[in-house]
Amino acid sequence: MQLPIIVIIALMLFILTPCANAGDPGKSVYTQRCMICHGPGGDGKGRVTALPRVAKFGKLFTILPRDFTTGSFKFRTTPTGCLPTDNDLLITIERGIQKAYMPSNAGLTQKELKAVVEYIKTFSSAWQDKPNETVCKPIIVKIPSYVGTHESIAKGEDLWKRKKCWECHGQDGRGDGPKADDLRDNGDNPILAYDFTSCVSKATFSPEKAYLAYTTGLNGTGMPSYQDTLNEHERWHLVSYTMKLMGKLRSIGK
Ligand code: HEC
Ligand code: HEC
Repeated sequence: MQLPIIVIIALMLFILTPCANAGDPGKSVYTQRCMICHGPGGDGKGRVTALPRVAKFGKLFTILPRDFTTGSFKFRTTPTGCLPTDNDLLITIERGIQKAYMPSNAGLTQKELKAVVEYIKTFSSAWQDKPNETVCKPIIVKIPSYVGTHESIAKGEDLWKRKKCWECHGQDGRGDGPKADDLRDNGDNPILAYDFTSCVSKATFSPEKAYLAYTTGLNGTGMPSYQDTLNEHERWHLVSYTMKLMGKLRSIGK
């Protein structure tokens, strides 16, 4: 009996797919949960090409899945220009990025999460080039007790003006500053500055995470690091002011 070709192909796929990934648990997780957006080659060209678009300033802004081949990551505990730690990646993958429509992977075991972290690192040679481990040491974060006080908020507001956060984020933090309609990421794609009144951020929802963003910068977005231009206390004052803009003071008991 001869089987129609379509049945043979279907059978081959059925037999081959599990075997192809059997040796690499990271690849297997990636194929099942990540490839659809981040693409087979990790370059962000998966089958999902139409993530929701936001219309602003008469343009459409698309949220694009990350291209891992560039080795550029936003949410890190390491200084600007550095690669993230394995744990930074693991936390992002486990939590997901709600605002960017990347689902949570809290259902995976730590072993599976670690395996997929290793797997996505194979997409860029940046990991083989070995970053300077002394320079790229994780930043330790301990929130001072003055964060969220009136005095700290006032100092933060002054820094917001002096450091020109408003040029991108707008005077009132609505993401509509004078430079906001012409920002591009490192892939030359139009990018929106964060609107502090939008209720949901990608990673800066706690004072600690906001402090990290101001210290490390968001690589690839044009949002700089302030580690060299603001001292530690000044960065915490900015946290106070921006927690106020986000309406999050109550979450830190203020
Ligand atoms: C529905 C689409 C989608 C799926 C599925 C998805 N992601 Fe993402 N992911 C995104 C988008 C969109 C971004 C870009 C977010 C941004 O830069 O604002 C992203 C960003 C990332 C980042 C970069 C974080 C940083 O610090 O810059 C990592 C790492 C990542 N994804 C890993 C994964 C892994 C691993 C999986 C599977 C377990 C996965 N993603 C599944 C859409 C997806
Ligand atoms: C050159 C323009 C520019 C300047 C100046 C700038 N930012 Fe940003 N910022 C951005 C862009 C673009 C994003 C969006 C990144 C993204 O969505 O991936 C962003 C994102 C953020 C986020 C949200 C990140 C998240 O979790 O979603 C915070 C908080 C923030 N900026 C605070 C500040 C503060 C405070 C200053 C001043 C000290 C500042 N920014 C200066 C462009 C800028």
